[in-house]
Amino acid sequence: EQVPLSLKVNGKKLKLKVEPRTTLLDLLRENLHLTGTKKGCDYGQCGACTVHVDGQRVNSCLSFAVMHDGQEITTIEGLADGDKLHPMQEAFVKHDGFQCGYCTPGQIMSAVACVREGHAGSEEEIREYMSGNICRCGAYPNIVAAIQDVKQ
Ligand code: FES
Repeated sequence: EQVPLSLKVNGKKLKLKVEPRTTLLDLLRENLHLTGTKKGCDYGQCGACTVHVDGQRVNSCLSFAVMHDGQEITTIEGLADGDKLHPMQEAFVKHDGFQCGYCTPGQIMSAVACVREGHAGSEEEIREYMSGNICRCGAYPNIVAAIQDVKQ
């Protein structure tokens, strides 16, 4: 049986009905067609599904949508300001912070949280904070460079 759910997603207030077992990730991708958020492992190991919930980063595959009633969700689609990329998106482009790009939305959402929460003080600190976001292509040095560029 579906249950009512109110969310603000990328600035838009939504009233939805969802199955209680629907994950936040599936709600975003399947119901709202926000497919920028990726499903890598679907069990909390890769970080491809990272979004912000009330400004905190969350692995959306590990979270049921109904747990977030009344909260504000930001996905990669909500990061840019119209046509103007978020500074972190620009830095990833500038530093080639990706190869295949599959992990990139999650990397960028984590990277924004990393800087905002003050964990970008050193390369070691950045790598520690970002350790839940796996990149099969091994773009890590460029991702770190992008984050260091933004924090200045
Ligand atoms: Fe959520 Fe991998 S899809 S952590």
